Amino acid sequence: MSGDGIKGAVPSEITDQAVSSFAAGQNERLRTVMQSLVKHLHAFVSDVKLTEAEWAKGIEVLTATGEITDEKRQEFILWSDVLGISMLVDALTHQTPDGTTESTVLGPFYVAGSPVRPFGASIAEQEAGVPTRVHGRVVDLSGEPIVGAELDVWQNGDNRLYAVQDVNAPDDHLRGKFRTDADGRYCFYAVRPVPYPVPDDGPVGHMLEAAGRHPWRPAHIHMVVCAEGYRSVTTHIFDAESPYLENDAVFAVKPSLIYPFRDHQADDPERPPGTTGPWVSLELDLVLAGGQNAEVVDYGRTH
Ligand code: BEZ
Ligand code: FE
Repeated sequence: MSGDGIKGAVPSEITDQAVSSFAAGQNERLRTVMQSLVKHLHAFVSDVKLTEAEWAKGIEVLTATGEITDEKRQEFILWSDVLGISMLVDALTHQTPDGTTESTVLGPFYVAGSPVRPFGASIAEQEAGVPTRVHGRVVDLSGEPIVGAELDVWQNGDNRLYAVQDVNAPDDHLRGKFRTDADGRYCFYAVRPVPYPVPDDGPVGHMLEAAGRHPWRPAHIHMVVCAEGYRSVTTHIFDAESPYLENDAVFAVKPSLIYPFRDHQADDPERPPGTTGPWVSLELDLVLAGGQNAEVVDYGRTH
C-alpha cells in the first residue's frame, strides 16, 4: 500500500487539509465562513501552542455552557457578550448615518410581548427605585417627528434584577411598550437603573473571575425603537453618573448613549404620580434612519 499523496502531521499541512475540505461546498457564504473559521482557529491553537490538557478543559467549558443553557438562560450569548463579539457584530451590522441614535446589545433579559401602556404611564408595577421621567420625541434625521413610533422598554430595579430574573416581581414589571403621539412625543415613568453583574454563576463567570475581570454593567435602561419606513434601533440609555461606564463587562457603552439625569425635589409640580420623595428626569430625542431593517434576528430566544 502506498502512502503517496497523504500528508503528514505537519501543522501547516493539517490546516491546509482542513481548509481544503470545505472547498467543494455549494454554499459560497458557508464555504467562506468555515474556511476562515478553521484558519483562525488553527492560527490560535498554534499561536498559544495549546496543550491537550488545555483543550480538554476547553471542551469541558463548552459542555458546561450547553448544560446551563435553557429557555431562560443563554450562556453562549453571554460568551459572545463578554468576548466582545456581540458588539463587533453590532458595529459591522448597524452602520447608520451620523446623527441617528446608536445601537448596542439587546442582552439576555429582553422578553417579547411587553404590555402596551398609555402615554405617561409607569413601567414599575411595584416599588423599584427612584422614580424617573423619560420623555422626548422620536424624529427622523431632519428633525421631523415620527408619529406612531413604538418604544419597547425594559430595565432592572434597585434590587439589580430584571422581572424575568425576579421571582417576587410580576411578569410585566419594569417593561412596557409606548407609542409616540401626533407630535412624535413619548413619555413614560421608569426607575433610575442601577449597575448589575451579568449572570456570573456559570462558566462565563468562572472565566471572568479566573481572568481577574469583573462582571458589572453600568446602569442603563433598554429600548427597541421602531416605526414603519424606518430602521429599528436596539439601544440603551446609560446613566452618566453610573460606575462601570469605562469598563462595561460586555463593551456595550457608546459615548452618544450616555445621558445626564436631572435631579428634582419632591415638590416639583411635574413629579411622577404618587411620588413623595426626590426623583429624576431625562429628556431625550431618539433619531431613526429611513429605510428597512436588513433582517430581524432573535438568536432563538424563547422568552
Ligand atoms: C443586559 O444589558 O441586559 C445584558 C447584556 C449583555 C449581557 C448581560 C446582560
Ligand atoms: Fe441590561
